[in-house]
Amino acid sequence: MPEAVLITDVGPRDGLQNQPKILTIEQRIALIGAIAEAGVPQIEVGSFVSPRAVPAMAGTDQVFAALSQQPYYSTPSLALIPNMKGYELARDAGAKTVTMVLYASDGMAQKNAAMTMAQAEDITIDILKLAKQEGIQVIATVAVAFACPFDGATDPKLVETIAGKFIQAGADQLVLADTIGSAHPQQVRDITASLVKSHGAAQLGCHFHDTRAMGLANVFAAVESGIRRFDSSIAGLGGCPFAPGASGNVATDDIAMMLGQMGFDTGIDINKLMQASDLAQQLTGTAPGGRSKPWLQGHLAKIAS
Ligand code: COA
Ligand code: ZN
Repeated sequence: MPEAVLITDVGPRDGLQNQPKILTIEQRIALIGAIAEAGVPQIEVGSFVSPRAVPAMAGTDQVFAALSQQPYYSTPSLALIPNMKGYELARDAGAKTVTMVLYASDGMAQKNAAMTMAQAEDITIDILKLAKQEGIQVIATVAVAFACPFDGATDPKLVETIAGKFIQAGADQLVLADTIGSAHPQQVRDITASLVKSHGAAQLGCHFHDTRAMGLANVFAAVESGIRRFDSSIAGLGGCPFAPGASGNVATDDIAMMLGQMGFDTGIDINKLMQASDLAQQLTGTAPGGRSKPWLQGHLAKIAS
C-alpha cells in the first residue's frame, strides 16, 4: 500500500487574496469545484477577514452556502481566520475546520492582524476552547516560521516553542508557514526533524511559497523528516498582500507530480488537476502554472494518443 500524503489546496484563499483581479463568487466556486473534482482531499476555500483588508475574500460566507448546495461536493472546506470574529463568522457559515494564524514575529502579527504575537496566542487558546465545545477542528498555522519581511530571520527555537504549546493546547494540526518563501531545505530538515521527534508527524504540516524556487526542495526535506501534510496552490497562485516579497505557493501541479512519482498516494488525478490549473490561469490571468505543467500536459497527450 503506498503511503498517503495529504495535500490541502490553498489557492482559493492564499492565491486569490493576492490577485489584481477579484473573482466573483461563481468563479471562486467553479475553481474550488475543479480542484475538488481532481481529487484534492482538502481545500482552503476562503478566509473570514476584514473585506477592507482583503477585498478578494469578501463573500466567503456565500462560498460556503453555495458549496453546501452542491449535491456532489463532499471535500472538506477550510476557512482561514485571523481572530475571534473570524472564528464566529466561519462557524456561522458552516465551516467545520478553521485555520487560525499564529505568528513567529511581532512585525508580521501587527501588519497582518493588528495584534502582538502574544495576543494572537491568547485568542487562539480561546478559539481552541470554543471550537472543542462546538465540534470544529482548528489548524494552527505559524506564519513567518522561517523569516519575517519586517523583523528578519526567525529563531527556530521560538517556532518550536509555539508549536509545542499549541499541540499541547489541542490544535488538531500545526502547520509551519514559510510565508515569504525564505526557507531553504537544511533549515526545513532541521526544524521538521526536531518537531517530529518531539511530537510525531501525524499533526504536523508545512506550507511553502516558491519565491526563490525552493518550494519543492523544501517539501522534499520535510518529507524526509516524516511530514505527510502539505499546503500548495493550484497553478502556483499565491502570495500575501501583507508580506512584501511573498510570491505564489508551491504549485499543487508540481507537488502532486513529485509525490506521485516518489510513490506516495495523494489521491489526485493529474489529468483533472491540469484542467483545474488551466481554469485558475484563465480566471486570474496571472497564475503562473506549475513548472511541471508543460511536461505533464505533453506526457498526458502522449498517453492519450
Ligand atoms: N472578518 C470580518 N471583519 C472583521 C474581522 C473578521 N475576521 N475582524 C474584524 N473585522 C471588522 C471589524 O468588525 C471592524 O468593522 P467595522 O469597521 O465595520 O466596525 C473592522 O473589521 C476593523 O476592525 P478592527 O478590530 O479595528 O481591526 P483592524 O482594522 O485593525 O484589522 C483585521 C484587523 C484582523 C480585521 C484585519 O487586519 C484583517 O482582516 N486581516 C487579515 C489579513 C489576512 O487575511 N492576511 C492573509 C492571511 S495570512
Ligand atoms: Zn501562504
